[in-house]
Amino acid sequence: MPNSRVRLIAGNWKMNNDVAEAAKLADELAEALNEVPAGVEVVVCPPTIDITTVHDRIQAAPVKLGAQNVYWEEKGAYTGESSCAMLKSAGCTYCIIGHSERRDYFHETDADENKKAKALIAAGITPIFCCGESLETREAGEHVSLVCAQIKAGLEGIELTSADQLVIAYEPIWAIGTGKTATAADAQEVCGAIRATLVEIFGEQLAGGIRVLYGGSAKPENIAGFLAEEDVDGALVGGASLKADAFSAMVEKAGE
Ligand code: PGA
Repeated sequence: MPNSRVRLIAGNWKMNNDVAEAAKLADELAEALNEVPAGVEVVVCPPTIDITTVHDRIQAAPVKLGAQNVYWEEKGAYTGESSCAMLKSAGCTYCIIGHSERRDYFHETDADENKKAKALIAAGITPIFCCGESLETREAGEHVSLVCAQIKAGLEGIELTSADQLVIAYEPIWAIGTGKTATAADAQEVCGAIRATLVEIFGEQLAGGIRVLYGGSAKPENIAGFLAEEDVDGALVGGASLKADAFSAMVEKAGE
């Protein structure tokens, strides 16, 4: 392993699996992942409606629970939303924020992600803060500057006391769900720049411990290449997290 950070393999189920389907997949995962290799942490992020079901079924396994979204207000008239305290009471210790699908389809801004990140950290839930560029931005050669700007804006005013309070996921939009992956060198270029930005914000010591994940058509066949890079500490997995065998194979590879 290129560094001493605990690797993180996180499954993002997106809007897939009704309650019965979620129960089945959670049971399969609990069985396949009843042991997780040393130095690897595993999280699954089901749709909000499935969180409690998945919680109950993975309890005995070394698999943590995350949400896919949160609202920053404490409570009140915010139809359709869930608060940090609600996620916490359901057993979530992680929450994905800033996913490109939220930014693109639901018009979330850097300022929204900043409020979500602050609320989650205050509640003791670790944000998996997503960033990433479109194909157009990459072709214009502006991917590194765009991603670093997303990080700076999204994390503005945030203070950490420990590196495990934050996870970053670099997900080039053109690689999400397309079967088109970035090369390991592409991932390292941006993840390295993300770490340099984290050093500017939080200082060497904290930044050196924050996990930076790659996401975008990650699968058992390509994960090892990403993980061999110095600044890639795991993966945020969409499609391949919906199959217990593929997801557990990725966890195994992360332990090698
Ligand atoms: P994918 O999704 O693995 O299906 O490309 C990754 C993500 O969007 O988190």
